[in-house]
Amino acid sequence: MLRKLFLLMMPCIIFVIRRSKAATVSPECVCEVSAQNIPRIIYYIILKMPILRESRNTLCCSPRLQKKAYQNKVTGVDPDRNAHEILQRFGKRHSLCHYTIKNNQVYIKTHGEHVRFRIFMDAFLLSLTRKVKLPDISFFVNLEDWPLEKRQASEKPSPIFSWCGSNDTQDIVMPTYDLTESVLETMGRVSLDMMSVQGHTGPAWEQKISKAFWRGRDSRKERLELVKLARANPDMLDAALTNFFFFKHDESLYGPLVKHVSFFDFFKYKYQINVDGTVAAYRLPYLLAGEGVVFKHDSIYYEHFYKQLQPWVHYIPFKADLSDLLEKIQWARDHDEEAKRIALAGQRFARTHLMGDSIFRYYFKLFQKYAELQVTEAKVRDGMDLVEQPKDELFPCARKKVRDEL
Ligand SMILES: *[C@@H]1O[C@H](CO)[C@@H](O)[C@H](O)[C@H]1NC(C)=O
Repeated sequence: MLRKLFLLMMPCIIFVIRRSKAATVSPECVCEVSAQNIPRIIYYIILKMPILRESRNTLCCSPRLQKKAYQNKVTGVDPDRNAHEILQRFGKRHSLCHYTIKNNQVYIKTHGEHVRFRIFMDAFLLSLTRKVKLPDISFFVNLEDWPLEKRQASEKPSPIFSWCGSNDTQDIVMPTYDLTESVLETMGRVSLDMMSVQGHTGPAWEQKISKAFWRGRDSRKERLELVKLARANPDMLDAALTNFFFFKHDESLYGPLVKHVSFFDFFKYKYQINVDGTVAAYRLPYLLAGEGVVFKHDSIYYEHFYKQLQPWVHYIPFKADLSDLLEKIQWARDHDEEAKRIALAGQRFARTHLMGDSIFRYYFKLFQKYAELQVTEAKVRDGMDLVEQPKDELFPCARKKVRDEL
């Protein structure tokens, strides 16, 4: 009895400790403590080892699916037709994974050259099927940066799952591989994860530097423009490139290249700039989770949660061509209380919608919705291989036969 009580309480205690930096714990957060999947992550923290034998409880609470993921897009999913059509349209020039989940087992066939990123999807599907019973489904995952489906809603778009969406495509958007991996590897990875950001939000608001901050590589022209802007306005904006890869390296215009800065040091500054790179900048969840106010670049790219983010509530928007950025920074300087409120609302958003439990529930709900639309059976097709669960060698449960010495 006592042990049971302890086990029940432990996640709550740790949960509260980990979030003690939050000024208030919203009722939603408290509700989430009881979600079945939270303790898994907590045990992971306590034991510092992967938990392999996970229960198959169904996830509770309903996640808020990004409406655009389904609205007007996919009217009926026909795995037979997709197997043929998607491969014909995209299989030659792009890198795709064709998955079938049958009886909660994961099967895969990859298409295309660059399929290294399947590891993220494989790992997540295996993790999800250890936790819940997924419906039988068959679907395609686009392993590249850019979304693929350019057909309009009226032209029968093919259902393709992608990590990033754009205003001119119809792909079904999942949480990015980066965020997904951050969830799977919580506390176990050397790079960023959503949990670690909770404990590294920098000095209190009042002690933060009232400047905008940005570091990154040159993966979009606007990033170069941002650096130029910073060089002309160093009292407002500290922005520098850490790497040249996409554009010709012109030190006189965009230099000097600077060393990497720990992401946690970003939060010494009040104003955090989010400018897109090749696609959406996948750092946005981490920036929101920190305690600076996020300035978000308007762009055609979006992640699974953007539709729920509101300008002037969770972030301060600025134009695609950066023409109003300085003005917006000045606004924040002149309206410190409001800027702080936006910073905290953004943080609350991240804590409510972008932590591990939300990501798991988002995927689960997404696959459920998808299954409801399937009009033919999901089949394990020729050439598909079973993706096996990792071997449970840390906790071998089967008792080995030992000689009876006692
Ligand atoms: C993309 O679409 C969103 C939502 O409809 C809109 O707010 C945004 O301004 C668009 N961005 C661009 C650059 O077209």
